[in-house]
Amino acid sequence: MGNYPHLFSKLQIGDITLKNRVVMGPMLVGYADQTGRVNENVIKYYEARAKGGAGLIIVEACCVDVPTGKEGAGQIHIDNADCIPGLTSLARTIKKYDCKAFVQLFHAGRQTSSQITGVPPVAPTRKGLTPSREVPRELSYSEIKNLINQFIKAADYAYQAGFDGVELHAAHGYLLNEFLSPKMNTRQDEYGGSLQNRMRILLEIIAGIKLQHPSLAISVRLNIDDFIPGGLQPEQSVLIAQELEKHGANLINCSCGTYESGLTSIEPASYPEGWRVYLAEKVKQRVQIPVVTGGMIYNPDFADKVIAEGRADLIFLGRSLLADPKWPIKAQRGKCEDIRPCIRCNGCINLHFAGMPVSCTVNPSTGRETQYRTRLARIPVASKVDIIGAGPAGIQAALTLDAMGFDVNLFEKDSHPGGLLKYAAKPPHKERINDYHRFLVNCLKRSGVKQIYNYPYQLTDLQSRRPDHLIIATGSRPHIPDLPGIEHCLNLEDILGERISVNGSEVVIIGGGSNGCEVADFLLQFNNRITILEERTRVAADMERKNRRDLLNRLEAGGVTLLVKHKVLEITENGVITVDSAQNRKTIPAQQVILATGYKPINHLYHQARRLMPSVHVIGDALRVRGFKSAILEGHMTAYMIYREQLKQKQRGQGS
Ligand SMILES: Cc1cc2nc3c(=O)[nH]c(=O)nc-3n(C[C@H](O)[C@H](O)[C@H](O)COP(=O)(O)O)c2cc1C
Ligand code: SF4
Repeated sequence: MGNYPHLFSKLQIGDITLKNRVVMGPMLVGYADQTGRVNENVIKYYEARAKGGAGLIIVEACCVDVPTGKEGAGQIHIDNADCIPGLTSLARTIKKYDCKAFVQLFHAGRQTSSQITGVPPVAPTRKGLTPSREVPRELSYSEIKNLINQFIKAADYAYQAGFDGVELHAAHGYLLNEFLSPKMNTRQDEYGGSLQNRMRILLEIIAGIKLQHPSLAISVRLNIDDFIPGGLQPEQSVLIAQELEKHGANLINCSCGTYESGLTSIEPASYPEGWRVYLAEKVKQRVQIPVVTGGMIYNPDFADKVIAEGRADLIFLGRSLLADPKWPIKAQRGKCEDIRPCIRCNGCINLHFAGMPVSCTVNPSTGRETQYRTRLARIPVASKVDIIGAGPAGIQAALTLDAMGFDVNLFEKDSHPGGLLKYAAKPPHKERINDYHRFLVNCLKRSGVKQIYNYPYQLTDLQSRRPDHLIIATGSRPHIPDLPGIEHCLNLEDILGERISVNGSEVVIIGGGSNGCEVADFLLQFNNRITILEERTRVAADMERKNRRDLLNRLEAGGVTLLVKHKVLEITENGVITVDSAQNRKTIPAQQVILATGYKPINHLYHQARRLMPSVHVIGDALRVRGFKSAILEGHMTAYMIYREQLKQKQRGQGS
């Protein structure tokens, strides 16, 4: 029997058979062009996921009603026949890999803004606010009829494009979810009020699609719990699912949460794996059609067990497939240690909310599939690259260059690879960074990269080794501000490296960026009383908003005092002397003072090396301290730059 036999067993949905139970959940990534058309970026991104072994891909939320229903730039439109050629290429590409293709049909309802759409946002009732705090306009009866038609027409375009099915997005607080919600839909006509009336719009859409294309599968993404007072709750959602089944839906894709529900829809890292499977289980017990569950699932063992125990029929993966499109194939082949783990940083969705195309912290190729091809012709003559520093930037550069056929030598002054990752993984809920660290070490082991540890690379090494290319990835060191009494302070590495333990103490942390707040979270475990001092107006301002909110909730629960607009003047044996924006001075008592005042690049070799050779590159924190997303991307990009330079050199050589 193969690996994960339940997860990798076939399943029938309506008229179609899936090769396995892994579904790529819909994720709006924003790669379409400004007219909402599918382009090469969209196709290559989905192709990588289809090739990676998913049994079903649900293409992201595509807008059925432009501009009113649109959520943002880069969204795919499915509102008129011009969209068919692009969608046809997309469906064809996905299906080439024996992967079934659905497309999600979407209307934002109130969860957009007039800045994006150019028109007032609409809703079943004038209730709630948009994210930009506008009051939505109530849809008229004839507009609802029109919208039903738009959804049915969109399903027709999907059918003509060759999709196997469509998914109606009735979750996360968007238009169809709002119709279902007892709180948000108090209309007096046949589309509001009672449950039967609130469901009517969905049921009429399903009936219209079935009438037109009986073979087209219909999935409904349904919030089983809105997690807002007065919103949709499991008891009613189960009844809705049963009704959807009666009216011809073929699949229920269970989800939860809305914009207002806080952390429950694209969860921060503290939520346990598969915490919301119980919601799908409630539906599964009451319907015959297949039920999809997911959310915070990343482990094939866990996914297989959910199916084996009959709690759901399929597992959707979102972020896990942004991080590693080959998750399914690797799991099926029993190569779980090769899966590039999503670290739940939410960098992806943060970009989406900022109106930018989505990318992934740990996978530099996500969303850049056209730019960074997975298979490259190996360089004809192996040239030598020395990389100084085995942190994330250096390792990524080393791995990419190795795959291209370079002779790669990775030098590290410490005894282990990973740089600052070992500290980054220490605060609560950041343990997935350890998995990523292990993944990198494992990749290095399998590669041809020569790794030299405990070796502080010097200029003399450059003179004797004469590499063709040098990459300086020497990272950063803590920035020590020039303050009286600074010698009394500990730094982050003393604490997170567990060189010094701080228990039951009065602690002041200087610096309220994400590092300062996370070290406070770490120290709360040891019964400390903590104050954070920050000069600016917000703490953890550099963090993604859901993980930030979650962290601040924990700090608040732990009684941490946050003092913003406080400048430190001096550190004494009794505490820290500060001045606030009203020029009030005070001493904050402290037994331990910890500096979280940022990092500074280490790159002194760069200018010396540049005098000796032309191809010198400085990357990651050594260039500018920005955290490891930029470091990983820069490592990868620099490898490509060197590769292209090398090919050009060869062409010039051939030409002469
Ligand atoms: C970048 C991004 C975009 C998303 N866009 C959509 C979408 O278009 N439609 C949808 O129903 N859910 C969307 N979601 C939610 C995911 O489908 C999924 O429910 C959520 O990420 C939780 O699953 P995960 O923990 O496997 O990522 C999105 C999530 C992310 C991270
Ligand atoms: S950006 Fe972060 S949360 Fe999003 S997929 Fe990548 S690692 Fe996961």
